[in-house]
Amino acid sequence: MTKQQLLDIAVEMKTHAYVPYSNFHVGAALLTEDGTVFTGCNVENAAYGVCICAEQTAVVKAVSEGYHKFQAIAVAGDSDGPCLPCGACRQVLSEFCGPDTPITCVGLDGKPEQYTLGGLLAHSFKLER
Ligand code: THU
Repeated sequence: MTKQQLLDIAVEMKTHAYVPYSNFHVGAALLTEDGTVFTGCNVENAAYGVCICAEQTAVVKAVSEGYHKFQAIAVAGDSDGPCLPCGACRQVLSEFCGPDTPITCVGLDGKPEQYTLGGLLAHSFKLER
C-alpha cells in the first residue's frame, strides 16, 4: 500500500461524507501496522457539536475491530489546499500513532502534502502523573 493508494482511498471516502450542514466533505484512510486499511468520513448532525470528523470515524472503526497501532493516515477534504486534521483529531491520532507517523493531506487542488503527527501536534497531552 503506497501513500498515493491510501490517499486515493481517502478521496473516494469523501463520497460517503454526510454533510448536510457544512457541505464540506472529508475522507480518511488509516493504515494499521499489519497493513489493514480502515476508512472514515465526516458524519454531521443537526446538533453541530456532535459532528464526527472523518479521521475519528476511521480511528473508532479500527480500534473497535481490535487494531491499536497505525503506520500512516491520509486525509482528503474540500479545502482549496491540503486538508489537515483538526486539533481534536491530532490528539485522537496521538493515542495510537507515534510522532513520526506520516499524514498525507490533499484538498480540491489535488496537490498532496506530507506531514508527520509530531510536526502537526507538538507536546500532545498524555495522562502521566
Ligand atoms: N472535519 C473533519 O472531518 N476532519 C477534520 O479534521 C476537521 C473537520 C469535518 C467536520 C465537519 O463535518 C466539517 O469538516 C466542517 O468542519
